[in-house]
Amino acid sequence: MLISKLIPEMLHSSVESLGRTKKLTRVLIVETKWWHNAVVYQIYPRSFADANGDGIGDLAGIIGKLDYLQTLGINVIWLSPVFRSPMDDHGYDISDYCDIAPEFGTLAEMEALIAEAARRDIRILMDLVVNHTSDEHPWFIEARKSRDNPYRDYYIWRAPRTDGSAPDEQRSNFGGSAWEFDATTGEYFFHLFSKRQPDLNWANPQVQQEVHQMMNWWLDKGIGGFRMDVIDLIGKEVDRGITTNGPHLHQLLQEMNAATFGERDVLTVGETWGVTPEIARLYSEPARRELSMVFQFEHITLTWDQQDGKWTPRAFDLREFKGVIGKWQSALGDTGWNSLFWNNHDLPRAVSSYGDPGRYRVESAKMLATALHFLKGTPYIYQGEEIGMTNVRFESVEDYQDAESLGLYRERTLAGVSHEAMMEGIYANSRGNARTPMQWDASENAGFSHAEPWMKVNPNYREINVATALDDPGSILHHYRVLIRLRKERPVIVHGDYRPLFDEHPQLFAYERRLGDQRLVVINNFSGQPVALELPASLRGLAGESLVSNYGPRNVLGQHLTLQPYESFAIALDTQTT
Ligand code: NOJ
Repeated sequence: MLISKLIPEMLHSSVESLGRTKKLTRVLIVETKWWHNAVVYQIYPRSFADANGDGIGDLAGIIGKLDYLQTLGINVIWLSPVFRSPMDDHGYDISDYCDIAPEFGTLAEMEALIAEAARRDIRILMDLVVNHTSDEHPWFIEARKSRDNPYRDYYIWRAPRTDGSAPDEQRSNFGGSAWEFDATTGEYFFHLFSKRQPDLNWANPQVQQEVHQMMNWWLDKGIGGFRMDVIDLIGKEVDRGITTNGPHLHQLLQEMNAATFGERDVLTVGETWGVTPEIARLYSEPARRELSMVFQFEHITLTWDQQDGKWTPRAFDLREFKGVIGKWQSALGDTGWNSLFWNNHDLPRAVSSYGDPGRYRVESAKMLATALHFLKGTPYIYQGEEIGMTNVRFESVEDYQDAESLGLYRERTLAGVSHEAMMEGIYANSRGNARTPMQWDASENAGFSHAEPWMKVNPNYREINVATALDDPGSILHHYRVLIRLRKERPVIVHGDYRPLFDEHPQLFAYERRLGDQRLVVINNFSGQPVALELPASLRGLAGESLVSNYGPRNVLGQHLTLQPYESFAIALDTQTT
């Protein structure tokens, strides 16, 4: 559907030469898509709900929780991989793209999930992991048989150097060399993740066609789109050491779009760690026919050491953080589209990273939700975020059950990093923090499973769980419901301009959203200390409707503003007062 969006703004240039400033109206033509006002909920199936009592979450478990998700108000489920897999990287190593891992269920159950979700107006995004496959994928089993096997060129093979060592020094993201020697054929294959995840050779047109065919097969089943795993790696040129943002990337995506989802009304979101705002526009500007949106991680990596990365955490600086969020809000304000998230299955829990998982857990989790859900873009909620689940401190790195944490623990402790320093990094940033079983109630195993769960539950489940949250009208869960509903009701939240407020304030993250004469003010105290300040004349005396708050309703901005720790609220301003 095409709608005209009227954006009044003051233009000072040519009109000022006439000696006065005149209000002009700029008209933007925006094609609205269903996913512009959608809210996505990410499920990590292994840890969500176990229906068959084997300690591992499954599709039947998800179907059993669809009513819960419908009441929450979400429209889309991003399902982390459920395909057949040896689970070296918990499903991000796929051995059959057209079948379901037996521990998760069957293809028939997957079809039932798509249909049951559709009955509740919920669409399913499949996780498209096509930078690599599992080493148990039939393509790779064939490819490693001989150098002239027809599948050889589906992967990236290079001869050893004369001394027999790996072709070059490129490193895997999970530690160690990116090259693994294959004794049968005497060559190395390339893998940017574990050695059980060989990279596909996207320069081979047959690989492209196979992937397109498989995508269409899933699209024909009625899915709502794809989340595309590390998609910015597929245009790589290994011989030039280029892995991210390779020269063929955008062409490959345009071809994929044309061959698969281009004419279908679906959501596509790319995982792109190496993206800049300029590159994000290449992906998400509709006229370029690539993707709906991408995930950028610039705000996430602000708490990582610049050299050492996530294993050496760096203190959070709100001004830096606001700068990054504001930059992305403006850069994709008129063209392209933002995805909005604080956490996912690879990241620590939001309330532990940016809030206070202790004394102010409820207040800070609500504040984080408000700060995110009033931004422009499509919000993503990661399972358990809506009840304020926290990071976990296990004694042993083994308990985090994660190929990355284990691989890097080994590599870095061998290189001299102390066990204690490494564990601090793991407590702050291990992916395992996000993967402890979903906390449904206070019964044994948090109501996740009747059997011993594949991964230990967070011991705080008796206090933090869905059942308790459902019974408490003041819970974080109810706060999320309100935020999701507001997005559906108010176009200003979806389409309005973003204008930062109090840019230099070290504790406040505040902004305005404007669309025509609709105006919202959102104010968040991002700290555990109270804030008191004098409001500028431009905000003083503004009043309206209190949309959401985490202490008590607020509907007027006076001369002074005093905020409690992590206090946050949004007001829809009365146009008469503005
Ligand atoms: C990104 C995924 O989100 C992560 O979980 C996975 O390990 C890597 N890609 C490799 O597929």
